[in-house]
Amino acid sequence: MSGELQQLEKDALAELAAVTTEEQILAVRTKYLGRKGLLTGLLRNIAQVPDAEKPLFGKRCNEVKNSVNCKIEDALKVQLTRKREDLLLKEKIDVTLPGRVVKCGRIHPVIQVRREICAIFASFGFSIVEGPEVELDYYNFEALNIPKDHPARDMQDTFYIEENIVLRTHTSPVQVRIMEKMKPPVRILSPGRVYRPDSDVSHTPMFHQIEGLLVEKGVSFADLKGMLTAFLKKVFGRETTLRFRPSFFPFTEPSAEVDIRCVMCNGRGCRVCGQSGWLEILGSGMVDPAVFQNVGYDPEEYTGFAFGLGLERIAMLKYGISDIRLFFENDIRFLRQF
Ligand code: DAH
Repeated sequence: MSGELQQLEKDALAELAAVTTEEQILAVRTKYLGRKGLLTGLLRNIAQVPDAEKPLFGKRCNEVKNSVNCKIEDALKVQLTRKREDLLLKEKIDVTLPGRVVKCGRIHPVIQVRREICAIFASFGFSIVEGPEVELDYYNFEALNIPKDHPARDMQDTFYIEENIVLRTHTSPVQVRIMEKMKPPVRILSPGRVYRPDSDVSHTPMFHQIEGLLVEKGVSFADLKGMLTAFLKKVFGRETTLRFRPSFFPFTEPSAEVDIRCVMCNGRGCRVCGQSGWLEILGSGMVDPAVFQNVGYDPEEYTGFAFGLGLERIAMLKYGISDIRLFFENDIRFLRQF
């Protein structure tokens, strides 16, 4: 038996020395050390070994097993190293190739302007609030002093969902929702989407507005003028010239529209300002007592001002964009410029 064992070891090592691939090495392992392998077979026959020789035979078997196993592990390691080297040789990297540019998203210009305006009014103590885009007729019109059949409804074409539910035509209804919920003092700014059935170079059916509202004791038109002037000079630059022009809105009395000196022609008159030299920027006014009454504020105790502006319009003037529809076409060549 021990002669057989010696022979088996010799054979196994000789076979290992001759093989070259991983598969062949593994086959040798199975042949000698596997569950039905030759060495395992020998061990199974230990019963035929005389009792006195059994411990020594068992010990020898283990030694052979370990030495063959070691050689197999070594051979496998050599294989692995060779494989890696082959791979390294094959996979050459050309470090002189130009890198791939990762395309990076940008903040949409309308959102940039929205953030900028929100930050300015936050610094004036305003909180940012939002309201629903699907709005009740009551908040969009009625509570803002625009009764049904009032000619002022013609100022804003409207998408109706049901007789008393509309897509809001402006962000002004948020004023009413806020005043219903809180007592003065109120300083809120409400950005969001609004909808009107219009489409041309300066109108899209959906666009963005920001509504502002300030209600306190003793607020005057001078406060409105001061705050809106400070705001517009922050957005368009300190040299900007403004004018406050009397206007009409059902929810403010008196009302004013604010124009800035045309940023394209600096007042000389051009296509953008319709040769007038002025650009209309926002609507504003002192909150109408009728609106205060609708929300249960006492107009004798409180006064306030409100204003509303279109974000696309501001972005167009700031960046010199001539067609509002560009904002919504998602053309990467356009969006990349901001
Ligand atoms: N809601 C008006 C619009 O969409 C804009 C506006 C004008 C809002 C005057 C106001 C305001 O709060 O006082 O055209």
